[in-house]
Amino acid sequence: MKKLVLIMMLLTFVTANVAIAADVVVYENAKGNITFDHKAHQESVAGDCTKCHEGTPAKIEVDKDFGHKTCKTCHKEMDGPTKCNDCHKK
Ligand code: HEC
Ligand code: HEC
Ligand code: HEC
Repeated sequence: MKKLVLIMMLLTFVTANVAIAADVVVYENAKGNITFDHKAHQESVAGDCTKCHEGTPAKIEVDKDFGHKTCKTCHKEMDGPTKCNDCHKK
């Protein structure tokens, strides 16, 4: 966890002057942590922010509902990972 915080701080520092999201976010979860690569996802959807954001892109509270609806539904449509341990890594 300490390492993770440090990496996030470094990322924040490096991108502090640019209004972009952190490249990679990790959601800690008892079922296995989920790593979300924001930058890679922006590329996967060819820069179409509205695939995930409504209106002006801003922070999203990612919870189980978002994970299993928005994330998983798109993965089914676009051939992304859909198995539990594709997302939840122990
Ligand atoms: C595949 C889904 C997805 C796509 C596509 C996407 N985002 Fe996001 N975005 C997220 C999620 C999930 C979060 C919340 C991450 C977190 O938990 O901090 C987020 C967070 C953000 C934030 C807030 C960062 C913060 O920490 O305050 C900004 C700004 C943002 N996105 C901009 C964009 C822009 C601009 C685009 C289009 C070029 C885009 N996003 C495309 C899912 C997406
Ligand atoms: C709008 C579509 C879309 C949404 C929404 C989306 N994804 Fe994805 N995701 C993809 C696609 C497409 C791929 C496959 C990319 C590839 O193989 O190049 C992918 C791949 C992944 C991978 C595997 C990456 C790897 O290295 O193999 C993970 C993990 C993942 N997504 C997590 C998430 C999580 C968590 C969310 C929700 C917060 C989410 N995704 C939302 C489209 C989406
Ligand atoms: C597309 C990625 C994805 C897939 C596939 C997926 N999950 Fe999740 N899951 C998430 C996300 C994102 C969360 C919310 C994480 C968070 O913020 O705690 C979540 C949350 C959960 C939680 C809630 C844990 C808690 O602390 O409340 C459980 C339990 C869970 N998932 C089980 C599963 C099981 C079982 C499967 C397979 C049937 C599965 N998940 C498949 C992304 C995924």
